[in-house]
Amino acid sequence: MTTKLSQNNEGITSWRKALFNVMADLIRHLDYKKYPIFQHMKTEPFQIAFIGGGINSAIGEVHKAASQMDGHFELVAGAFSTHAETNSETARTWGVAVDRTYGNYRDLLQAEKGKLDAVVVLAPTDYHKDIVIDALRAGFPVICEKSLATSVAEGEAIAKAVTETKGFFCTTYNYTGYPMVRELKQFIADGKLGKIQQVQVEMPQEGFMRLGAHNEPPKPQAWRLKDTVIPKISLDLGSHLHNMIYFLTGERPERIVADQATFGLFPQIVDNVGALAQYTNNVRAQIWFSKTALGNRNGLRIRVYGSEGSAEWFQLEPETLKTCDLRGNVSLRDRTGDVKIANQQRYNRFKAGHPAGFIEAFANYYKDIADCLKQYFETGSFTSQYVCGIRTSLEGLSMMQAAARSAQSNKWENV
Ligand SMILES: NC(=O)c1ccc[n+]([C@@H]2O[C@H](COP(=O)([O-])OP(=O)(O)OC[C@H]3O[C@@H](n4cnc5c(N)ncnc54)[C@H](O)[C@@H]3O)[C@@H](O)[C@H]2O)c1
Repeated sequence: MTTKLSQNNEGITSWRKALFNVMADLIRHLDYKKYPIFQHMKTEPFQIAFIGGGINSAIGEVHKAASQMDGHFELVAGAFSTHAETNSETARTWGVAVDRTYGNYRDLLQAEKGKLDAVVVLAPTDYHKDIVIDALRAGFPVICEKSLATSVAEGEAIAKAVTETKGFFCTTYNYTGYPMVRELKQFIADGKLGKIQQVQVEMPQEGFMRLGAHNEPPKPQAWRLKDTVIPKISLDLGSHLHNMIYFLTGERPERIVADQATFGLFPQIVDNVGALAQYTNNVRAQIWFSKTALGNRNGLRIRVYGSEGSAEWFQLEPETLKTCDLRGNVSLRDRTGDVKIANQQRYNRFKAGHPAGFIEAFANYYKDIADCLKQYFETGSFTSQYVCGIRTSLEGLSMMQAAARSAQSNKWENV
């Protein structure tokens, strides 16, 4: 009897095991989220759609690669471009199903309700306000390229929608994803530089002046050649620098005085900005960004000076952080050095000496967004030391708009 029972139990156990294995296999191998019963499950890989970011765009391919590099996201739908051919070519190239590719973003928001974990807004900045607000109001978590929008007024409208919908919103300030930038953040937080006194940040580029191989003039996208209340260059580059200073120091800008100039081939737009800014805790910043600095492809450089030392990071040598102490000792650290952050497994897809760069930094940022989304799905809100939310995104617009005012008034302007 006993033997029979145990045999029966074993029978039942192995039957259960088999069923469990079949289910596990289904979940692992099937696109299970397409079945309504599983659609409430918010698990990685998070299912995302792009709005904008077609293969003809500057940043689409980077988002495609970075979002999927570590398996945290899966691109399953899109309204990649308003040009029908580019839209379908993008979907074809990236393996997105035809029936989940939409000619405009409103159709996407309607048809994909309940099927996505987030939408990623990669359209030109001029369209961010409408797309982001519509997506939030339709109930989608939103990951948005910087800058948030083209003016403080637009940014405030988005912030209102975030509050009212209790929605998820973040921007992709990807440069903060570099491991050695994160190391610098930790270095500062640990007090290794003493009291932070001043920061110098610059982002010189040359795209509005440099000729091509056959002397042809550059051809920027049309939307980049139209300035509004904040010059496009300030939205494009200045907002990254604002974000970087806050990311590293935790200080907030209070006042700014700025000069805006036009040196390049497009007389209708500002292409060079220099500014001094005063921050909380008496920190001073010098900020320069340009699209007419010949010889600089994208020379993002950060120097931080404190009462006990200084540090410098340069994007063209992203794997090293240079520091100097009070006695003049200069050190270079990399992922294998005396570091606390950059040696983490997540930053070492391959060992130091095999340089990681822009796209890996972007992927690091996407991993943080995945953590934030998970937090949001579990608790209804998120906090992150790495991911830029609505408040800091909006502050970037305030700072750049104050800089534009200052360039007109020739005075210090409050942020
Ligand atoms: N984080 C970074 O380093 C970085 C770098 C470049 C651009 N960006 C940001 O990314 C955004 C896009 O910039 P870009 O240079 O890739 O622009 P782009 O003009 O090169 O590409 C825009 C793409 O969006 C599509 N598009 C335009 N309007 C659309 C709409 N209404 N709906 C759907 N698709 C639409 C276009 O067809 C194109 O595919 C901007 O906000 C920009 O500031 C960020």
